[in-house]
Amino acid sequence: MNQSTDTLAPLSSAPEAEDGPSRYFVTSFGCQMNVYDGERMGEMLAAQGMQAAASREDADLVILNTCHIREKAVARVYSDIGRLKRDDGSKPMIAVAGCVAQAEGEEIARRAPSVDIVVGPQAYHRLPQLIEQARHNTLAGSKKAAIDTDMPAVTKFAALPVRAKQPRPSAFLTVQEGCDKFCTYCVVPYTRGAEISRPFADLVDEAKALVDGGVKEITLLGQNVNAWTGTDAKGRHQGLEGLIEQLAEMPGLARIRYTTSHPNDMTDGLIAAHRDIAKLMPYLHLPVQSGSDRILKAMNRSHTAASYLAIIDKVRRSRPDIALSGDFIVGFPGETEADFEATLDIVRAANYAQAYSFKYSPRPGTPAADMEDQISPEIMDERLQRLQDLLNTQQQAFNQTTVGERTQVLLERQGRKPGQLVGKSPWLQSVHVMADGARIGDLIDVELVSAGPNSLEGRALTLVNA
Ligand code: SAH
Ligand code: SF4
Ligand code: F3S
Repeated sequence: MNQSTDTLAPLSSAPEAEDGPSRYFVTSFGCQMNVYDGERMGEMLAAQGMQAAASREDADLVILNTCHIREKAVARVYSDIGRLKRDDGSKPMIAVAGCVAQAEGEEIARRAPSVDIVVGPQAYHRLPQLIEQARHNTLAGSKKAAIDTDMPAVTKFAALPVRAKQPRPSAFLTVQEGCDKFCTYCVVPYTRGAEISRPFADLVDEAKALVDGGVKEITLLGQNVNAWTGTDAKGRHQGLEGLIEQLAEMPGLARIRYTTSHPNDMTDGLIAAHRDIAKLMPYLHLPVQSGSDRILKAMNRSHTAASYLAIIDKVRRSRPDIALSGDFIVGFPGETEADFEATLDIVRAANYAQAYSFKYSPRPGTPAADMEDQISPEIMDERLQRLQDLLNTQQQAFNQTTVGERTQVLLERQGRKPGQLVGKSPWLQSVHVMADGARIGDLIDVELVSAGPNSLEGRALTLVNA
């Protein structure tokens, strides 16, 4: 995949000319890490004096922060680019960021000449220079895009400004990036690069900035978040549970979550943290992908169905009420009906509170795309339906088991009805609650009184931190 291409003009050499863009709009697709990147790009532009636009139409810089994980992502980017042209023939400055930018590189600018900037997920700290470069190109009458898909050894994080005050009480914090696992279906190791862990002290500082800005809940993010390692202030080697333990001591921070984990990095220490650290929420996203050992091997997952279930067992012994979540792929090349049945079996055995399931999508450049025995779309549709039926039944059953619980909800937004607020339970369920006088960001004691498939109703008891 593409590496660095363009040499950037330093800011100081930009010609005196009309002003650059002043109102940006970022749209992020894909995983939570992409959402985090989108937020940081916005914060960086705001720190440079730009304003956040209310909509794409109102922006003179639109950043499409793209995802490449499944098919149609690329087609979607091109159609989105086309739609940015306005009725009067004008267009905003257009930047394509994220994993499609990394995978496609210059090809994007070739296919869509209206694109001004292409910037990969490890290079977006250089966005201000790329904007200057793009402006410079336009003024010089050149249609050349400013492209940076470098994966610098020095991480971008050090170059980004301190976190701004957050609009929501729950924030993301990327602690680990990239992936060395090379599952045979997956583009992430190519688009995000090798696995790196951000330094312990930087993460504590960033968490503190978030909490100082009113954040109550932090979700630690990584493509393999539980592979994070670092060294604490006393020089001790720490796994993710060490970081969680430190963050749990931060006054004002009420809740900690992390996602996404790989079964192979689910250490006993992290499992024990679910028992020992009250602020660590009882929710675990641990994708298994398939229940068939033959398919898991072909996927290069390096765990088996049995080893996965053994981990779940341990986690449940540590934290019996844990809400388990996962990811599944149906129709991986060579998947037989028996393999698929094994996936249904592991779902029955693991019992999920919530899960994501996808049809296998061949990704260019990945080993699975060239495997024989690609599965027909009809079979994939049928299997996905059966899997989702089972997962939905489990989700509903899980929600039902929590009815009657007295628990806490972190209020995140206004509901549709007057006086209604919507927040999250410890198990990451959406809970609607009538709570006159409560505010977004409050933690409120509720009794869960009824459950639907996707959300619950809570009865307000008392505000915890009003
Ligand atoms: N790092 C995480 C997940 C990253 S991608 C993990 O290892 O579990 C998120 C999910 O997208 C994956 O768990 C997988 O279920 C799905 N996915 C990835 N590549 C895919 C592909 N080529 N086709 C269909 N689904 C895919
Ligand atoms: Fe992709 Fe596998 Fe890495 Fe997850 S562990 S990001 S699925 S290669
Ligand atoms: Fe998509 Fe890239 Fe995330 S491919 S899922 S945005 S790591």
